[in-house]
Amino acid sequence: MKLRRWMAVGAVAVATVTALNTVPATASRPYDPTAQSLRTLALRHGLQIGTAVDMAALNNANDPRYRQITATEFSSVTAENVMKWESLEPTRGNYDWAPADQLIDFAKRNKQTVRGHVLVWQNQLPGWLTSGVEDGSISKQELRELLRKHITTVVSRYKGKISQWDVVNEAVSDPWDNPPTLHYKGFWAQHLGPGYLADAFRWARAADPKVLLFYNDYNIEAFGSGNPANDKTQFVYDMVKGLLAQRVPIDGVGSQGHLGTQYGNYDTLQVTDALKRFTALGLATAFTEVDVRSEMTEAVQAGDSAEINPRLQASAANFSVLMKACLAVRSCISFTVWGFSDKHSWVPTWFDNPPEGLATIYDENYQPKRAYHEIKSDLIFAGPPYVLPRITPKPRR
Ligand code: G3I
Repeated sequence: MKLRRWMAVGAVAVATVTALNTVPATASRPYDPTAQSLRTLALRHGLQIGTAVDMAALNNANDPRYRQITATEFSSVTAENVMKWESLEPTRGNYDWAPADQLIDFAKRNKQTVRGHVLVWQNQLPGWLTSGVEDGSISKQELRELLRKHITTVVSRYKGKISQWDVVNEAVSDPWDNPPTLHYKGFWAQHLGPGYLADAFRWARAADPKVLLFYNDYNIEAFGSGNPANDKTQFVYDMVKGLLAQRVPIDGVGSQGHLGTQYGNYDTLQVTDALKRFTALGLATAFTEVDVRSEMTEAVQAGDSAEINPRLQASAANFSVLMKACLAVRSCISFTVWGFSDKHSWVPTWFDNPPEGLATIYDENYQPKRAYHEIKSDLIFAGPPYVLPRITPKPRR
């Protein structure tokens, strides 16, 4: 009896180590979790770990490391640009599906899930649509019908191939906008009114009954004053609560996570609190576009390590705050970085005056940075009780 029990215990131990240990440990090479990929270590938590993918870089035969790391380190991918309306329907009625289809195929070959980005956003809209509205040749009714057709066409095409859709992105203004009191901003609110959000979620649900439907925004990592007039997280919280009360099929809230070391840091408890409050509404949560940029002062650009290292440390600390909060809240089902290498990051192009950069987890030569090791250690050392399987809600009808 005793022997049989030890054998049983032994069997369980082996199974566990094997599950954790894709690189089999041998006498000469003990199990080394740091040798594991992010996607393997995230498995422990049932967490999807993802990256935005620049299709030009993925297809660049002279840049093989990009494709390699995209495939080996990440269990989820998001199209950085090729699933946006201007890319999918550059001229009216003519669709260019090829780059998006290619990402779907790449993900399938590498056993990755795909986050769909983005169905409704005021940026990167096709010129024929915005100029038609501007010159009046596209009426309000026709615009609403075009939006319904776009959502239905895109979601139907990728039915069963997308795990989460960013249905609406960045619909809420910021305190620095005019007027400063928070409000629904942008092209769609201006021409269709805020009712377009409920319509968009219902049309997406009608096209795919199983995909999780997300509202996605930035600067909602933590609550502020609690006054929706100037606290964007509170505004978004009230907005999604209102949509749920109207029985709109929204399943989750995506927090982009575009941070900057010059703005000081959130702490893990603040971010965990925000995730928990959205969770309490019955929603899934996700970090969808994480990067932590720093000001590229002359000293930094000159390679002064005394200036660079503190920024890399601070960036790593911010990545880790979001990862720790995500691991602590079971509704946080995916953690996506907005590009993994400083070689392919939107930050230097967008923040050029004053210049900013160093925002991702690998440097320009695909060497893992402190931020990579920081989130990896969070995945390794977030031991019990923080190895919590994720809770994914059923898609709302
Ligand atoms: O495709 C054209 C190319 O033909 C042209 O030669 C080139 C030069 O101007 O521009 C290319 O388009 C660029 C496009 O990225 C594709 O690379 C646009 O100029 C450029 O503005 C666009 O930037 C994207 C930005 O969204 C646009 O708003 C970034 O790559 C992308 O990372 C960024 O992503 C957004 C998320 O979708 C939503 N949240 C914020 C995030 C960062 O802004």
